[in-house]
Amino acid sequence: MGNGKGAFFYFCAMAKDDQFKKVVSHAKEYGYIFGSSEIYDGLSAVYDYAQNGVELKKNIREYWWRSMVYMHQNIVGIDAAILMHPTTWKASGHVDAFNDPLIDNKDSKKRYRADVLLEDYCEKLEQKAQKEIAKAKKRFGDAFDEEQFVSTHPRVVRYREQQKEILGRMAKSLGAEDLADVKALIEELEIADPETGSRNWTDVKQFNLMFGTKLGASAESATNLYLRPETAQGIFVNFLNVQKTGRMKIPFGIAQTGKAFRNEIVARQFIFRMREFEQMEMQFFVRPGEELKWYEYWKETRLNWHLSLGMGKENYRFHDHEKLAHYANAATDIEFDFPFGFKELEGIHSRTDFDLKAHEEHSGKKLQFFDPELNKNYVPYVVETSIGLDRMFLAVLSHSLQDETLEDGSSRVVLKLPSIVAPIKAAVLPLIKRDGLPEIAQEIVENLQWDYNVVYDEKDAVGRRYRRQDAAGTPYCITVDHQTKEDQTVTLRDRDSMEQVRIHIDQLKEKLKKSISYEHWLKNVL
Ligand code: GAP
Repeated sequence: MGNGKGAFFYFCAMAKDDQFKKVVSHAKEYGYIFGSSEIYDGLSAVYDYAQNGVELKKNIREYWWRSMVYMHQNIVGIDAAILMHPTTWKASGHVDAFNDPLIDNKDSKKRYRADVLLEDYCEKLEQKAQKEIAKAKKRFGDAFDEEQFVSTHPRVVRYREQQKEILGRMAKSLGAEDLADVKALIEELEIADPETGSRNWTDVKQFNLMFGTKLGASAESATNLYLRPETAQGIFVNFLNVQKTGRMKIPFGIAQTGKAFRNEIVARQFIFRMREFEQMEMQFFVRPGEELKWYEYWKETRLNWHLSLGMGKENYRFHDHEKLAHYANAATDIEFDFPFGFKELEGIHSRTDFDLKAHEEHSGKKLQFFDPELNKNYVPYVVETSIGLDRMFLAVLSHSLQDETLEDGSSRVVLKLPSIVAPIKAAVLPLIKRDGLPEIAQEIVENLQWDYNVVYDEKDAVGRRYRRQDAAGTPYCITVDHQTKEDQTVTLRDRDSMEQVRIHIDQLKEKLKKSISYEHWLKNVL
């Protein structure tokens, strides 16, 4: 075995569309994600996490949990039930306002989100603008001044203005519940059913996104419940329980991870928008008037958490909300550059005292904190951080999947997962299946498995096994060969650089610990 052979390569940039297709099929081929109940042709927008997927998801959740709960002395976690008293959802506003505006096509019988039809129309206008910009860039080369071009070129200016007008009018109409105007806008723009081209639309109607279910034995006595559409409310209703039993002092936070359910009509882009998904949320309770200071703190801290995974600063951006929900006084999204463009990955919201006050009103119970320094009671203000675990999974998976052409002209598919979240940390490979090498490899597995998820693999030539582990995202391969019997050294191969070093078996644990410890990865977050 040589050292570092073929470690030079270049990255083949894949077209974004292609990249997304590759991510979806790779997720299935390498045991990350399967469609739900596939043998019955699946259930739309519902997915199962497979043997590697469940590990990656668990590791991302753990990475989040440790950074939020273990790294902050004033944050604790809970695990509230999915089913909650139905008044919860009245108080939170979800019964009355958690709606999507839907429109049906009378000919195709297909249902669409009216706002998505309009946004897609604007997206097409933007694509036209981008085409003009690309053309001009090519024509003018280095002399091209993009800023000047977009502010003066008549067609680009018009495309951008149109988008602004459409989105502005849509926001105004939706805000005023003027659904007739939303329909009028769709008709004026001559938007057609994307699948059939028909323009025969029904009126726009609001459709509640919560899944209903029933509690109780008989139909008559059953209570109508909802599957929670967000984990946040489980935190709000437990605010006082946690504050009192944990003797928490403001400012403090409560974190929770768990399933949430939304009857999304336009569920698309794989696990980006699902009907059953998992959230990782934290509500931070603060003194009224100090919320914007904490909002800034959490914006920075959450971005640092993302950056700590090393997926490139350029792939994240903030999108501050101009139009705020009625309960918020500041809100931003952390957007990630998915294969289909920059999209929301996480939301950070300054929610004022809206939720706790609403629960006070509906429950008749006081949800207040006595602040000994101020010598008074108040309803705390809340800053929320809320990230979709599945969406984070997609960000990690799609960013990590790369096609590389190596120096010798061969190619490899490699999943460059941050090693702290990789499902399998190391594969132990006997060079051949005899001469006592498998036994030594098994011993190494048994020694490492106390701390790491490691696998033993003896099938096929070692080169093929390396490729298999590269594609599965395993950061290290440990190869046992005949020299191992003489001097107890093995080859440690790095997935990303493909460099191989000889290392004593006794040093393996220390070496893995150095590069796959929470301390190593999380120290840049705070
Ligand atoms: N408690 C606030 C809240 O739920 P949200 O913006 O509706 O806010 C927060 O959701 C995060 O949950 C989003 O940023 C996204 O990552 C994730 N999320 C929301 N809907 C989702 C869906 N249908 N499928 C997957 N993830 C979703």
